[in-house]
Amino acid sequence: MQSLNIGLIGTGYMGKAHAVALHAAPRVFALSAHPVCDLLADVDPELASRKARELGFARATGDWQALVADPAIDVVDICAPNFLHQEMALAAIAHGKHVYAEKPLALSAAGAREMAEAAERRGVKTLVGFNYIRNPATCLAREIIASGEIGELVHFRGRHDEDYLADPELPHGWRTRRATAGAGALGDLGAHILNLAEYLTGRRIVAVCGDLQTLIVQRPSPQGTDTARVENDDQAQALLRFEGDLMGNIETSRIACGRKMGLAYTVTGTKGSLIFDQERMNELQLYRHDGPPGRRGFTTLLSSPEHGDYGAFSPAPGHGLGYNDQKVIEIRDLVEGIAADRPLYPDFREAWRVNRLIEAIEASHHQAGWVALH
Ligand SMILES: NC(=O)c1ccc[n+]([C@@H]2O[C@H](COP(=O)([O-])OP(=O)(O)OC[C@H]3O[C@@H](n4cnc5c(N)ncnc54)[C@H](O)[C@@H]3O)[C@@H](O)[C@H]2O)c1
Repeated sequence: MQSLNIGLIGTGYMGKAHAVALHAAPRVFALSAHPVCDLLADVDPELASRKARELGFARATGDWQALVADPAIDVVDICAPNFLHQEMALAAIAHGKHVYAEKPLALSAAGAREMAEAAERRGVKTLVGFNYIRNPATCLAREIIASGEIGELVHFRGRHDEDYLADPELPHGWRTRRATAGAGALGDLGAHILNLAEYLTGRRIVAVCGDLQTLIVQRPSPQGTDTARVENDDQAQALLRFEGDLMGNIETSRIACGRKMGLAYTVTGTKGSLIFDQERMNELQLYRHDGPPGRRGFTTLLSSPEHGDYGAFSPAPGHGLGYNDQKVIEIRDLVEGIAADRPLYPDFREAWRVNRLIEAIEASHHQAGWVALH
């Protein structure tokens, strides 16, 4: 069986999630190629060596440039902060490596475009970590929408709220600076719901009207000695117009007290509706506008082997998957796409689109008016 040697960069929150999924994927799925946790990079050699031991990688380096140039590496997996994605991915592509990168792909749409075009020119595969589309409950929602079961689409409502920066005493990190994160909640969380809006409806967003706000305007410096300005949004909202005259909206916040993983959507059609909340990620609410009026109501569909990739994890309906399982499915898609030389989704070109939507929402906020996307 073909092996795919993985070089992982960054071992924070996402680096660990990727490592866990890389180890689990060959146990959950019968893969056509074997992902090998080969080389791991972080900011210094000691940290990288310790993390390689913890996360089950064979080799470690304190220099990501050595990782992307290493002849043994087939796939470069980028779990570093946003501002590093572009430089790392372009270097990996130049060395002919496939690239699996976290979202948002780049700090700007122009940066994401350069990455997408470089990968296409070089003929390498790319995949971006919009993992929520892999949740079997959301795969079921997409299937229900595409089949016409809830009729013609009438409205899309999406949000992604968390409260990880609700405490004003939390110091600056890379997420609060423009130069290291790009957009704030809109880029970090809104990116997911924008990707989901198009994935679920099967339609492109053609115009946006955005509104952004930074409410915690100063935060302590990481050293705690002084305070500095927060450079990106704490919360954002946007009205959306999709092709086919579908109306919708999104909201996102990183200071929404109480919301821990509040990615949610409501999709309304002429014959029914769907409601989903990632905090209850194994449930999809389906309403069918038929039957006697006094008996109509939402039905809870618990994730089951009939839905998406659930059955690869468990034969038992309603027992539930977790966040990391979405990453396991993402790894399966990465490996199978590379092994079969098939296009991956969402690739850099698709993630460039999300960067364009983020930029359009920001531009719309600054211009105080609608912005069209072409
Ligand atoms: N898909 C998701 O659900 C999801 C969730 C969280 C984060 N993310 C994305 O994952 C990426 C990483 O986020 P995180 O929360 O894991 O961040 P983090 O701060 O927890 O980890 C970042 C890691 O990158 C390392 N790093 C920084 N500079 C480096 C360099 N020059 N060379 C090598 N390593 C370097 C850090 O030491 C750290 O190990 C971001 O792009 C973020 O948007 C995605």
